[in-house]
This record gives sequence, structure tokens and C-alpha cells, in this order.
Amino acid sequence: MQSLKGKKALITGGSRGIGRATALELAKEGGEVGLVARTENSFDVIRKELSQLGVKFAVAAADVSNETEVQHAVGKIEAELGAIDILINNAGVGASGSFMELSTDTWKKLLDINLMGMVYVTKAVLPSMIERNKGDIINISSMSGLKGTEGSSAYSASKFAVIGMSEGLMQEVRRHQIRVSVLTPSLVETDLTRDGDQRDPDRFTQPEDLAEYMVSLLKLEQRSFIKTSAIWATNPF
Ligand SMILES: NC(=O)c1ccc[n+]([C@@H]2O[C@H](COP(=O)([O-])OP(=O)(O)OC[C@H]3O[C@@H](n4cnc5c(N)ncnc54)[C@H](OP(=O)(O)O)[C@@H]3O)[C@@H](O)[C@H]2O)c1
Repeated sequence: MQSLKGKKALITGGSRGIGRATALELAKEGGEVGLVARTENSFDVIRKELSQLGVKFAVAAADVSNETEVQHAVGKIEAELGAIDILINNAGVGASGSFMELSTDTWKKLLDINLMGMVYVTKAVLPSMIERNKGDIINISSMSGLKGTEGSSAYSASKFAVIGMSEGLMQEVRRHQIRVSVLTPSLVETDLTRDGDQRDPDRFTQPEDLAEYMVSLLKLEQRSFIKTSAIWATNPF
């Protein structure tokens, strides 16, 4: 197992839910975290939590679907923490409704955030990983990226795309000792699912479980290609 002490991790969507839990878990391991979310005040809670843990951290407000904002945010975080060792592409949004109910604007928004957001952030972080011949990238897809279901065609399409992008990227960067993992969680209890999902609460996993899993992956010594499918709760389909 390798230590994560002093490793610099950039987590998109780090203010709430899975991203917040992952930031705290990495901080407990001595990692330094850089967080991206859309608004400055969304960091209020996590700022306090990270300060209590006494770790170095940085935050930057940016919409991941805006490439210019992403470049500024990554630049700010790298200026404060240094070059990024670990990228967790986690920011994402959902949309439910039948194919005909979902407007083309909603389709574009989902693909812009859930797919292009990952592309912009990865493009901003990857050159320094390639230069240093090391790095870890974890992309958060979803079980909806493995199977489409009624009422979530746009979300599924965006999450299928994340898997395709991640698999292609893995093959390109493994020669630089950069690991790319793609996770496909099922239901996790966060703001994304809490309001809209009336299913049995026992079927939800907790963001902390996923965070622990990510940290255990990052601690592996293995420097080769990794493809991971983390299926957590009972199959919701
Ligand atoms: N919860 C689940 O059951 C589940 C299952 C499988 C996969 N996932 C995936 O896991 C990831 C995290 O989901 P979550 O459940 O933790 O959601 P969440 O609790 O709603 O948190 C989403 C995070 O992403 C940020 N965010 C959203 N849109 C953004 C944008 N355009 N630019 C920058 N930041 C943005 C949010 O902050 P702001 O709103 O302040 O920007 C927040 O920090 C998503 O990719 C989701 O698709 C979730």
C-alpha cells in the first residue's frame, strides 16, 4: 500500500455528496485537496471540516461545463497546492423524465456537465501528469452508464459516454504510469437522489462508503491499467 500523505487531489463537485466525503477521507490520509464546485458559498461546510482536520486545501468556484472557468480553477488550485497527483472527476447532475419530456436543452446541459466537464478538467490536469509520468484519475460514471432505463435516457447517455472516454484514455496514458479508473455506483444517498427517489432507504449506500473505496484504490501500489466497476447497493433496475 502506498501512502497518500502530501498527495494533491483535485475533486470536482467536492462541496457536497460523494465529492465532499472523498475530500474528507483523503484529508484523513494526509492528502491535500483542491475542490471545484459552482458557487463560492457551497464550500462553507467543507471549508470548516477540512480546517478542523488541519490539512492544506484550496477551493475554486467554476462550472465544469465552462472550459475557461475550468482552466482558471485548475490554475488557482495548482498555484496554491502544486501539481495535481490525483484527479477525481465527480461533478455531475441528473435529470429524469421520459425521452420526449426531456428538452434538447436538458440533453445538452447533461452532456456538457457530465461528459464535457470531465473532458475540460482532464485536459487541464493531464499534461502535468504526463510530464511527471505519474498520476491517478478516477471518473465517476454510474450504474446508469451500464444500463439505460426508462426515465433516464439523457443521464444514462452521459454516463455511458464517461465509460467510453475513460477506457480510451486508460489505453493512452498507461504508458505514462497514469492509472484511470471508472466507477459505476448504484444509488448513493446524496442530494442527487434524496429528493427525487422514493425507493427503500436501505437500498442506498452512503457517500462515505464510496469515498473509502476510492481511497483504498488510490493506495494500491499497482501502477498499471485499472478498470473498476463498483456496484454498491442492491441492483435498482
Ligand atoms: N448519488 C447517486 O446515487 C449516484 C450514483 C451514481 C453516480 N453518481 C454520480 O456521482 C457524482 C456525484 O454525485 P452526488 O450524488 O454526490 O451529487 P450531489 O450531492 O448533488 O453533489 C454534486 C456536486 O457536484 C457539484 N456540481 C454540480 N454541477 C456542477 C457543475 N456544473 N460544475 C461544477 N460543480 C458542479 C455540486 O456543487 P454545486 O451545485 O455547488 O456546483 C456538488 O458539489 C455525479 O457525477 C453523479 O452522477 C451519483
